[in-house]
Amino acid sequence: MKIIVNSFIAHAMKKNPSRNTHLNKGPSKLLEAINSSIDVDQRMYKEDIEGSIAHAKMLGKQKIISKKDEVKIVNGLKVILTNIQKGKVKFKKELEDIHMNVESMLFQHIGATAGKLHTARSRNDQVVTDFKLWIRNNSDDLDKMLQKLQKVLINIAKKHTDTILPGYTHLQVAQPISLAHYSLAYVEMMGRDRQRLKNCIEILNENPLGSGALAGTSFPIDRNYTASLLKFKKPTVNALDSVSDRDFAVEFLFVLSLISIHLSRMADEVILWANQQFNFVKLPDELATGSSIMPQKKNPDGAELVRGNSGNIISNLNALLIILKGLPLAYSKDLQDDKKIIFSSFDNVSLALEVMTEMWSSITFNTHVMKEAVKNSNATATDFANWLVQHLNFSFREAYHLTGKIVAYANKKNKNLDQLSLEELQKFNKKISIDAKNTFSIEESVKNKKSFGGTSPQSVKQTIKYAIKKYL
Ligand code: ARG
Repeated sequence: MKIIVNSFIAHAMKKNPSRNTHLNKGPSKLLEAINSSIDVDQRMYKEDIEGSIAHAKMLGKQKIISKKDEVKIVNGLKVILTNIQKGKVKFKKELEDIHMNVESMLFQHIGATAGKLHTARSRNDQVVTDFKLWIRNNSDDLDKMLQKLQKVLINIAKKHTDTILPGYTHLQVAQPISLAHYSLAYVEMMGRDRQRLKNCIEILNENPLGSGALAGTSFPIDRNYTASLLKFKKPTVNALDSVSDRDFAVEFLFVLSLISIHLSRMADEVILWANQQFNFVKLPDELATGSSIMPQKKNPDGAELVRGNSGNIISNLNALLIILKGLPLAYSKDLQDDKKIIFSSFDNVSLALEVMTEMWSSITFNTHVMKEAVKNSNATATDFANWLVQHLNFSFREAYHLTGKIVAYANKKNKNLDQLSLEELQKFNKKISIDAKNTFSIEESVKNKKSFGGTSPQSVKQTIKYAIKKYL
C-alpha cells in the first residue's frame, strides 16, 4: 500500500513538484495567467541551477542528504542546464516559475530523489538568490559596454585636442573649448557609472540562500559554504530581511537610470549638433532615417530614441519603489514583478549604449563649422578680463566691469571684440597694450586653460593619459 501511495505521489510531483495537496482545487486559468512568471524568469535559469547545485552540495556536506543523493541531484541539474542551453526544453506555464520548472525537470530525470532538493530552502530565499546572481553576472556585461563607449570617446579625444568648438552654458556660447575636452566629459560620467555599478554589486554581494521562507531553518545548514560556492562575500544576517530585500534591485535600477540619463543628454547633444543651424556633425547614414514625405530629410531617430527611452527607464525605477512602499515583511507576491522591470531596463540601457557607441564611432565632425561658431560670439571676453588682472593689477571684479563696458561699446558699434582697434580699447584704459589683443584669439584662449582638468591641449593630454590608465 505504501509503495502504491509513494508512486502516486512521485507521479504527481513529476507533473508539479509543489502541487498544493491541501487545496481541493487547482488554480483557475485566470489565476494561472496572473500568477505565472515563467515567461519572464526563465531568463534566470542558469542562476537558478547554479543556486540549486550549491544548495545540494551544502546539504550533502552537512549530511542532511546522503552523498549519493547529492551527486544524483547535482548531475541531474547539470543535465538540465545543458538541455536548456541547447533549447531542448519547453517551460510550462502551469509550473509558475523557473524554480518549479527546474524542480519538475529534475523529477523527470532522477525520480523521487529530486524531492530532497527543496530541504531547508524556500522559493523565497531561492528567488532572491537567483536574482542577485543574475544582476551580478549581467553587470559585468554592462560594465564592458560602458568601457567600450569610453574607449570610443577617448579615441575622439586623442584626435581632437586641437579641434575648437564653442562651450556653452545656458546653451549660450560661453568659452571656447576643445572637442577632446568635450568628449572626456562623458568619459568621466561613464566612469562614475561604472563605479556606481561596482558599489551596487559590492552591497548586493551577500548570500540570502538558507534564509528559508522567512525564519531560517531547523536543519543544520552551512550558509558560509553556499556563500563561498556562489562567490558571495558572506551570508546575509537576518532571514526576514533577506527574503524581502529588494534594495539591490532598486539600486541597480537607479544605476541604469543614471546611465540612461547620461546617454539621453549625449543623444540630445547629437540631435542639436546635427541640426542644420548648428551643423557640427554629420550623422552616419545607418543611424538616421528619411521622412516619408520630405525627400530631403535626414532624421536623427537613433539619438531621439535613446533620449526617449530614458523615460521608460526612470519609470521602471519609480515602479519598483512604488511596489515596495507598502509591503509588510516579508515576501509578498507583488515582488514577483521586480524581474520584469529589471530585465526591461537592462535591455533598454544595453541597446541604448550600443547605439551611442556606434553613433560616436561613425559620426563625422564638421570641425571647420565648429570653429566658425566660436567667432562672432565674444567668447574670449573672460580672457581679456583675465589679462587686465594679470597685467594691469585689476581686481577681477574691476576687470569684469571694464570688459563689460567694452563689450557694450563693441555691440553698439556692431563689432566683435577682436575688431576693436588698440585706440578704441585705450579709450577705456590708457595702459591697455597691443598684447592684450592676443587674448581675443580663440586658440590662445584654449591654450591658456592649463589648470588641472582644463581644456588646454596640454591639460587634455594629461587627462587622456589618466583616462586610459583608469578606464581602459
Ligand atoms: N516566482 C516567485 C517570484 O518571482 C518566486 C517566489 C515565490 N514565493 C512564494 N512564497 N510564493 O517572486
